[in-house]
Amino acid sequence: MKVLIYGAGVLGSYLAHALIQGGNEVSVLARGSRADQLEKDGLVIRHYFQLKTTKDPIRVIRTLDAEEVYDLIFVVMKYNDFPSVLPILAANRSRHIVMIGNNTDAWEMQQFLEKHSETPKQVAFGFQLSAGRRDPERMVAVRTGGQMVLGGLDGPIPFKTELERAFASARYKLTYLDDMDAWLKNHVILILAMNYAPVLHDYQMNKVARDDKLLREVVAAMGEGFHVLETLGYPLVPASQAAFIRNHPTLLRMFFKLYHILPISRFVDGNFSELAALANVFEKWKKEAGVLTPNWDKLQKRLQVKNLSKLS
Ligand SMILES: NC(=O)c1ccc[n+]([C@@H]2O[C@H](COP(=O)([O-])OP(=O)(O)OC[C@H]3O[C@@H](n4cnc5c(N)ncnc54)[C@H](OP(=O)(O)O)[C@@H]3O)[C@@H](O)[C@H]2O)c1
Repeated sequence: MKVLIYGAGVLGSYLAHALIQGGNEVSVLARGSRADQLEKDGLVIRHYFQLKTTKDPIRVIRTLDAEEVYDLIFVVMKYNDFPSVLPILAANRSRHIVMIGNNTDAWEMQQFLEKHSETPKQVAFGFQLSAGRRDPERMVAVRTGGQMVLGGLDGPIPFKTELERAFASARYKLTYLDDMDAWLKNHVILILAMNYAPVLHDYQMNKVARDDKLLREVVAAMGEGFHVLETLGYPLVPASQAAFIRNHPTLLRMFFKLYHILPISRFVDGNFSELAALANVFEKWKKEAGVLTPNWDKLQKRLQVKNLSKLS
C-alpha cells in the first residue's frame, strides 16, 4: 500500500521501518537536517535490544502537495506540533489519516479536518507503544515488534481493512480500543506526573530513584489526575491501570524506583515543550473540575520555581 509517515522523528522512523518490512511503499515527510540525513543515509535504526542496525532506502518528501494521494497517512509528532500540519492534511486529497502521539484534542482535530477538507476524511487516533531517542547519525529504538493502540472517536475505524492490509506482513501489532479519546487523556495524566520527576532532577535518573518523597508525590498526583478526569465525566481507561495506581501506591513507587535505576529510563525521549503544552491543558481541566490536587500543585510549583531560577 502507498503510505506516508508525516514526521520522521523517533517513533515515526520506527513505524516507517515496520511498514517497509511489511512490503508497503513508504514515504516519509521530513524537514531540515533530518530530511538531509534520510536522503543521504536512508532510514537507519539501531535496535537496542536486538543489537542490530537496519538501513532501509526510503523516499523522502519535504512538502505534501494537495494532489499527492496516499492510501494511509500516519502523522507522528509531538502534541504541540499537530496544529501546524492540520491545514496541510485538510488540503491533501488522501482520505485515511491516523494521528499518533500524546493528544488531548482528538475531537477538535477531527472536527477541523472534517470542516476544512474538500475530500471527506476518515480519522483515527493512535499511540505507538515503543520508545527511543535520536543520536546524531540515527534513531535508537528500544523496542521492536512494535505495537500501537488505536481507535476512532465515533465508532470503529472505518478504514480498518486498509490498516490490516498495510500491517498484514509487518511484525507489528494493532490493538483497537473503543474509547481512544479517554485512553489518550488517561495516558497524559501518567506521562505528565511521571515526567515531573526527571525534569526536577535534570534527567539524573539515579537521583530520581533515590528521591522517595518526590516519587510519593508523583504517585499521589496520578490519583488526583484521575479524579479530575472522572469529575469531568471521562472514563478511566484502562480501568485496571487506574485501580492499580490508586490501590497500590507503594508498589508503584517501588516500580518507579527500579525503572529509574535501569538504563531503559534514559531512552524515553521527554520533551519540555510538549510537556508544558500538555500541562497547560491539565491546568484547564483542573479549573473546570474544581477538584483539589495538592500533590499535583506542589510538583507544578517546584517546576515553575526551577524554570524561573534557570532563566535568572
Ligand atoms: N520518543 C519516545 O520515546 C516516545 C515514547 C512514547 C511516546 N512518545 C510520544 O510520541 C509522539 C511522537 O514522539 P517522537 O519521539 O517520535 O517525536 P519526535 O522525535 O520529535 O518526532 C516528531 C517529528 O515530527 C517532525 N515535525 C514536527 N512538526 C513538523 C512539521 N510541521 N512538518 C514536518 N515535520 C514535522 C519533527 O521534525 P524535526 O526533526 O525537525 O524536529 C520530528 O522529526 C509524542 O507525542 C511523544 O511524546 C514518544
